[in-house]
Amino acid sequence: CTYEGTRAQRTLVVFKPDTLQRGLLGELMQRFERRGFKPVGFKMLRPSMELARLHYEEHREKPFFSRACGFLASGPVVASAWEARGVIAAVRQMVGGTEPLENAPGTIRGDYGVHWRRNLIHSSSDEQTAAREVALWFRPDELVGWEQSVAEWLY
Ligand code: PPS
Repeated sequence: CTYEGTRAQRTLVVFKPDTLQRGLLGELMQRFERRGFKPVGFKMLRPSMELARLHYEEHREKPFFSRACGFLASGPVVASAWEARGVIAAVRQMVGGTEPLENAPGTIRGDYGVHWRRNLIHSSSDEQTAAREVALWFRPDELVGWEQSVAEWLY
């Protein structure tokens, strides 16, 4: 197994304004929880344009930069951090690519999205970006490390 022995990673998942406007927060979040990823941080906020600009910093030269920032800051979002081995790539796979109509059913965007800019969720693209993004959205004391022990709590 490629992931055997690899250390746990953390990734940032932002449920964007369209997730909340459409009442999909619980349903989409449940997918990550059911997959077995461990939540280590949650917060609801209305991002400032300043936060949005820092968030999409790597795209600042792209033509869509201000529209992407404007959309992120257009309403309340829920930012979350999740921990697991291989979680960064696995979440990206579950979310699907940027264009909802090009995604297969089974992916979040393939199941819930038609609008190419309103694509419900942002997730970190790689390890370096994930570290930067988690630190941008969460102070260290807002992240909660904990041991998951299903057997102890269920039986
Ligand atoms: S790239 O050039 O392939 O790296 O860019 P891409 O991954 O497709 O897009 C980067 C993020 O910008 C968002 N985006 C937009 N949002 C709103 N309006 C417009 N016009 C727009 N164009 C791109 C896109 O959804 C990506 O956001 P996240 O949150 O990372 O999915």
